[in-house]
Amino acid sequence: MSNEQQTRVYHPSAEVVKNAAVSGIDAYNALVKEAEQDYEGYWARQARELVDWKVPFTQVLDESNAPFFKWFADGKLNVSYNCLDRNIEKGLGDKVAIIFEADDGHITRVTYKELLAKVSKFANALRSLGVKKGDRVVIYLPMSIEGVVAMQACARIGATHSVVFGGFSAHALRDRINDAGAVTLITADGQFRGGKALPLKPIADEALALGGCETIRNVIVVKRTGGDASFVAGRDLWYHEVVANQPETSEPEWVEAEHPLFLLYTSGSTGKPKGVQHSTGGYLLHAILTMQYTFDIKPDDVFWCTADIGWVTGHTYITYGPLATGSTEIVFEGVPTYPDAGRFWKMIQDHKVTVFYTAPTAIRSLIKAADANPAAHPKNYDLTSLRLLGSVGEPINPAAWEWYYENVGGSRCPIVDTFWQTETGGHMITPLPGATPLVPGSCTLPFPGIQAAVVDETGTEVPNGQGGILVVQRPWPSMIRTIWGDPERFRKSYYPDDFKGKLYLAGDGAIRDKDTGYFTITGRIDDVLNVSGHRMGTMEIESALVAHEKVAEAAVVGRPDDLTGEAIVAFVVLKGARPTGEAAAAVVKELQNWVGHEIGPIAKPKDIRFGENLPKTRSGKIMRRLLRQLAKGEEITQDTSTLENPAILDQLKHSV
Ligand code: WT7
Repeated sequence: MSNEQQTRVYHPSAEVVKNAAVSGIDAYNALVKEAEQDYEGYWARQARELVDWKVPFTQVLDESNAPFFKWFADGKLNVSYNCLDRNIEKGLGDKVAIIFEADDGHITRVTYKELLAKVSKFANALRSLGVKKGDRVVIYLPMSIEGVVAMQACARIGATHSVVFGGFSAHALRDRINDAGAVTLITADGQFRGGKALPLKPIADEALALGGCETIRNVIVVKRTGGDASFVAGRDLWYHEVVANQPETSEPEWVEAEHPLFLLYTSGSTGKPKGVQHSTGGYLLHAILTMQYTFDIKPDDVFWCTADIGWVTGHTYITYGPLATGSTEIVFEGVPTYPDAGRFWKMIQDHKVTVFYTAPTAIRSLIKAADANPAAHPKNYDLTSLRLLGSVGEPINPAAWEWYYENVGGSRCPIVDTFWQTETGGHMITPLPGATPLVPGSCTLPFPGIQAAVVDETGTEVPNGQGGILVVQRPWPSMIRTIWGDPERFRKSYYPDDFKGKLYLAGDGAIRDKDTGYFTITGRIDDVLNVSGHRMGTMEIESALVAHEKVAEAAVVGRPDDLTGEAIVAFVVLKGARPTGEAAAAVVKELQNWVGHEIGPIAKPKDIRFGENLPKTRSGKIMRRLLRQLAKGEEITQDTSTLENPAILDQLKHSV
């Protein structure tokens, strides 16, 4: 380790190395070398070994229309077949696929055979409603068996799903339905979280009433809370009624490898979320390969990814990866703090979880909770079933890493700090548990076959030890294919001309260690924030703020936060006089609730400050770097001589 990385190095134990799919660093290096020497050959080998093809592919990577790359394009397959039927054919029909734990602790187990029957029934129901290959289906469901079933059923019939996180607002849902041109919306009457029943169908109704969702023919409603669900006759149908008389078998739709399995909307640098389009074959391959190499998945494992199916982590590591590898997994409806902050630890103990994958924000909040309430400390639970831990969504600070390692993993379990994105489909830079020595805070080395680098503005690689821009040098199978309906935005965002269209731009900064070449992610380099592992565009929040009748102008920046990673700070110019004191506090509340209603609670600014104007250059550009310093409470080091009205800096210095 170089001097900058004085932190301890954690080597895998001999036992972990011995049992691992990638056993020892030499095995890792051999895979990297294989991919370097014959890139297409490496991926083709994996795709033949890990995926079941109805029609085998003969083409591997097609770069003729770069950056719109194609993988395995003449192959045909079905993802649902790969996740369900083939496991049953291998004799795993009676193995538990999903252990569902409800918010109230009620447990439901579903075997592979039962899951296939549920998926087939719902696939048949969708077909009977006229949903066809290529149609878009929006899924707005809580964490549930039906959520996984709905996604798998879409995959089975070749419909392209787009899951919208259940915490998103009516506006956000409407925009996504509208952009996707969806024909069906699948939702629930409501959802349980932390002992409370929250509405979903009323929000879906509000979304559809906003207009722009005329492509929707049917709304299918899962009965969960028994809450208010007024039905539009002919359009709205109960889930349990549409599946009631459907046969338990259904022929999979064999689709081309490039067929869009799903769209998932995520935030970018503009106010409009982008529909990230994923493929079928390449995506499935990486879901399986990362389950095997990163999670080192074994037949007896009980795998638990705590993400929501509304995010990409829930797609790859709940709906697809674990099932495609015939694993047993936990699906959890509730929240980590209910009935108390020992919930995760109790569930690991009860279900004998072996591989646990969660976000740094959750870990930090549970550290805090355990400090406040010793009964919620993991030491009160038997966590000896665990053999591997994972982290995802944001950088994990070394202190949280060490706590996780010692108190949850019993200083026995490697931690895989997996760097990836909605756009990458699966892990990109991550330790492999039996191969990579760990350094807290570093996501270590690229996944075998992924060629990542740190470059300067011209696309030239910078020396180790020097920070720069994280890029991926070669297309990979599970990568984003395009932005739905906006191929030009795809090209400009991810294959910018600055890099001659040759390098994939992740949008993160990174630095590699001088000696080991290990990567550390230094944070986003665009206008994207990461709040509790959730990705938010500053422009989206600004658009929501200026849509309020009182707001003339708004600028949003992030500031480091001990708990949530980043916190949202909004600088706002109101149409009337600048409020102070209690009046200001009331407007802050009003605007926070407004953003919550426009986008969703996760987008609420933590801190809102009012000024008579925003700091701008002579040409009228908002000086964001200066706002970031103000948000952090730092001294202004920047030249402010171009400021039209320097007095406003004083107004913006303090929170209301
Ligand atoms: C952004 C992607 C990855 C699935 C969930 C989030 C940040 C993600 C890490 C990590 C440091 C990380 C990056 C990335 N990020 N994982 N292990 N270390 N940063 O997916 O919503 O598309 O967000 O999350 O900034 O670009 P997403």
